Amino acid sequence: MTNVDWDAEAASFDEEPDHGLRDPEVRRAWAGRLRGWLPAREGDVLDLGCGTGSLSLLASEQGHRVTGVDLSPAMVTLAREKLAGRDAVFLVGDAAAPPVGEQRFDAVLVRHVLWALPDPGRALRHWRGLLRPDGRLVLVEGVWGSAEPVGISAERLTGLLAPITGRVSVERLSDDPLLWGGQVTDERYAVVAMDPSGQERGEAAAAGQ
Ligand SMILES: C[S@@+](CC[C@H](N)C(=O)[O-])C[C@H]1O[C@@H](n2cnc3c(N)ncnc32)[C@H](O)[C@@H]1O
Repeated sequence: MTNVDWDAEAASFDEEPDHGLRDPEVRRAWAGRLRGWLPAREGDVLDLGCGTGSLSLLASEQGHRVTGVDLSPAMVTLAREKLAGRDAVFLVGDAAAPPVGEQRFDAVLVRHVLWALPDPGRALRHWRGLLRPDGRLVLVEGVWGSAEPVGISAERLTGLLAPITGRVSVERLSDDPLLWGGQVTDERYAVVAMDPSGQERGEAAAAGQ
């Protein structure tokens, strides 16, 4: 994927069931998962490598304000069209260092992008710094293919997150064909990693401090 011309891919990107979410069942499956991963309270979501904005739209429909960032101007144009009239902005920029200035977010959402960045650990540290207290990283990743697999395993990703975030939960997604428009056999998962400062405050409150 690192050599993919995303501008050239943009026009047909949504044809894949899990990209465009055009099938109502697939769309419902992703909407349900996303609702469980994002904060219950409406907030600010940063969708990095947002593509055509399919997950941005679901987040917006669930009441969140969305900022999307993608390196491909063609993807950003399609995302702007998809969320026209909504409380959402889309910027051309690098997911590893998104151009959001001092803005901070309740959730940083990244699907199928982290694994292809040159330094995933560095990107995660940067994203952790973009969270508000009590914020969270929502990372949807996987390992695709069998002959020459590409991607990032849940084991490696949770290893990178352990020193920089609080509670981390992993949800396996391979066994839910509704998400993918059919059966899949490779590793697919979502990780939700909580901001550690929020967790410390919660623990302190629970201990009556
Ligand atoms: C597989 S698509 C995923 C799109 C979207 N996250 C989704 O799940 O539908 C990968 C996207 O990441 C974008 N991308 C790749 N490298 C990037 C980078 N360094 N910074 C920002 N976007 C990037 C591509 O332009 C493409 O839109």
